[in-house]
Amino acid sequence: MKGLKGKNAIVTGAGGGLGTAISQRLAEAGCSVGIFDLNAEAARSTARSIGEKASAHTVDISDLDAVKKAVAEFEEKVGPVDILVNNAGWDKVGNFLETDKALWEKIVAINLWGPLHVTHTVAQGMTARGKGKIITIASDAARVGSSGEGVYSACKGGMVAFSKTLARELARKNINVNVVCPGPSDTPILNDFVGEGEVGQKIYEGLKRAIPFKRLGQPEDFGGIVAFLASDEADYITGR
Ligand SMILES: NC(=O)c1ccc[n+]([C@@H]2O[C@H](COP(=O)([O-])OP(=O)(O)OC[C@H]3O[C@@H](n4cnc5c(N)ncnc54)[C@H](O)[C@@H]3O)[C@@H](O)[C@H]2O)c1
Repeated sequence: MKGLKGKNAIVTGAGGGLGTAISQRLAEAGCSVGIFDLNAEAARSTARSIGEKASAHTVDISDLDAVKKAVAEFEEKVGPVDILVNNAGWDKVGNFLETDKALWEKIVAINLWGPLHVTHTVAQGMTARGKGKIITIASDAARVGSSGEGVYSACKGGMVAFSKTLARELARKNINVNVVCPGPSDTPILNDFVGEGEVGQKIYEGLKRAIPFKRLGQPEDFGGIVAFLASDEADYITGR
């Protein structure tokens, strides 16, 4: 894909399923990738698997000061950020009426405040340079809901609306802002959602039956989609 070689990309939650595959794909295309994750060991392991094109940064995206520090560290190492992939996410399943405010606050802190922190930090420089690509991994839950994931769905829906607005605001600065909404995909977050044992297996099979391709998404399914949106081939796509 055109225009990825030599670019600098940050991928949040890159120690996990989709984030690791997205980072690998961007590095293969010639990007230097900042592996941003709360889990230090997972971040290091992803960076090691990629090699010299990757650097690990332990950061909690719900902490704005920590985000600013990690972005500055990455930029000092490789130069200005060209591509941001807001991928980190978290949820704990429970019917809304059986959950409490402490849980809602944690879900909102990670899935809404987190990407706002990283986007606000990174987009300042992109705006000054007049170029950049921002891609957020939301969820199908943003469009159709997901039982047991009310507050998470609200955050993902919020990120879709936010990104459409930011796309309008930043188009004049030549910055593209897009969202990818995966359906159920085979990663640890889904395993937590589905649960284990016979019941878990039944839920898995039900999910597969409901997907037209009759299989769950795999992390590798998303690397190319994100690489395309981050490339020059997608220069005329924004607010999607
Ligand atoms: N797997 C699915 O079925 C599915 C479906 C739709 C959307 N998504 C979204 O895709 C994205 C990637 O999810 P995944 O399936 O790879 O999950 P995952 O659990 O495998 O990976 C998520 C990563 O985010 C990191 N993370 C969590 N909280 C963080 C924080 N506060 N700061 C920094 N890093 C943090 C975790 O340590 C983990 O490495 C998420 O935004 C998720 O909501 C996943």
